[in-house]
Amino acid sequence: MTALPPSAKAMVPFVSVDNMMRLVHRVGIETMLRELTDRIEEDFRRWESFDKTPRIASHSRDGVIELMPTSDGTIYGCKYVNGHPKNVASGLQTVTAFGLLAEVASGYPVLLTEMTLLTALRTAATSAMAARYLAPKGARTMAMIGNGAQAEFQALAMKAVIGIEAVRLYDIDPAATEKTRRNLQGSGLSVTACGTAQAAVEGAEIITTCTADKQFATILTDNMVGRGVHLNAIGGDCPGKTELHRDILLRADTFVEYPPQTWIEGEIQQMDKDYPITELWRVVTGQAPGRRDPTQITLFDSVGFAIEDFSALRYLRERIAGTDLYQNLDMIADPDEPRDLFGMLQRAAD
Ligand SMILES: NC(=O)c1ccc[n+]([C@@H]2O[C@H](COP(=O)([O-])OP(=O)(O)OC[C@H]3O[C@@H](n4cnc5c(N)ncnc54)[C@H](O)[C@@H]3O)[C@@H](O)[C@H]2O)c1
Repeated sequence: MTALPPSAKAMVPFVSVDNMMRLVHRVGIETMLRELTDRIEEDFRRWESFDKTPRIASHSRDGVIELMPTSDGTIYGCKYVNGHPKNVASGLQTVTAFGLLAEVASGYPVLLTEMTLLTALRTAATSAMAARYLAPKGARTMAMIGNGAQAEFQALAMKAVIGIEAVRLYDIDPAATEKTRRNLQGSGLSVTACGTAQAAVEGAEIITTCTADKQFATILTDNMVGRGVHLNAIGGDCPGKTELHRDILLRADTFVEYPPQTWIEGEIQQMDKDYPITELWRVVTGQAPGRRDPTQITLFDSVGFAIEDFSALRYLRERIAGTDLYQNLDMIADPDEPRDLFGMLQRAAD
């Protein structure tokens, strides 16, 4: 006997890597980055209505595997993400991810999706959103230190949202810089490859650090950071993994996503517990100032928080509705009578 087909109740929309790529091209990457930035900002405005917890991390010698859940009371979202800096040497990504949305009322999933690309897009959009409030007015040049998987997305979001016109690249691996330079050709950005981090930050009003190393690293030292600069530090996002010398933090005003997670994972893990920080959502809602003056050094100590993924997932769900950019997966058991799960099993009996 052939198995009976599952009903509509069994089906969960699934967005593959292929369909995600098609969506980005269909929407246009800069439009998508702008729309994601707005969507994340919208959810930062209603920050208090979300369930929040530091992400659940499983650390090993080689990396970390994390679960990032949150809910706004109507929809629940969760991302699986890893961080394995040594993966690149064996031809694997440092960061991969997939995620889901579910209805709080029934607990039924309503979306399953690749999130490696979506994470790069949402991380760049979050950086751009923070820069809206923290970067110096009229910033036109950014330094991009760490030219790996996230790099082009970061540069394009700063172009699309902030109006960055020039990007100065540096990576310890010149091949990574060359890859980024090539990929940004024709983007409208003027791209300069630099031989040192010091050279890359020259004249930059925004400095993004996005390196991967499972240790306390010092990508920037205090003498490299001039007055008035905005630092967008993305790569320090695990216990024992930071990018900035602590003296920089002593001169900067530091903005974070969710303090209980950032104290564990961010640049501020190097600081005493009375080190002052400002939650970015308070800036977005007007409860705290962002950049106050042109000489101030601002630091977005980004680690990546679940609400940003929730925003990206919600955006994706709306964007794919009514398109051919998803498949229905037979993922949820659908017995004819809810308690007759065993009976359903017989649909596939020989
Ligand atoms: N904050 C967030 O929300 C968020 C989101 C995604 C990724 N990340 C983090 O961002 C980092 C980069 O991610 P990726 O996917 O681009 O990784 P990747 O491995 O693709 O790229 C990292 C790059 O950093 C370079 N690098 C390492 N040490 C360096 C140094 N001392 N100076 C200059 N360059 C150096 C490497 O050569 C590599 O090209 C990772 O640490 C990741 O965990 C953070």
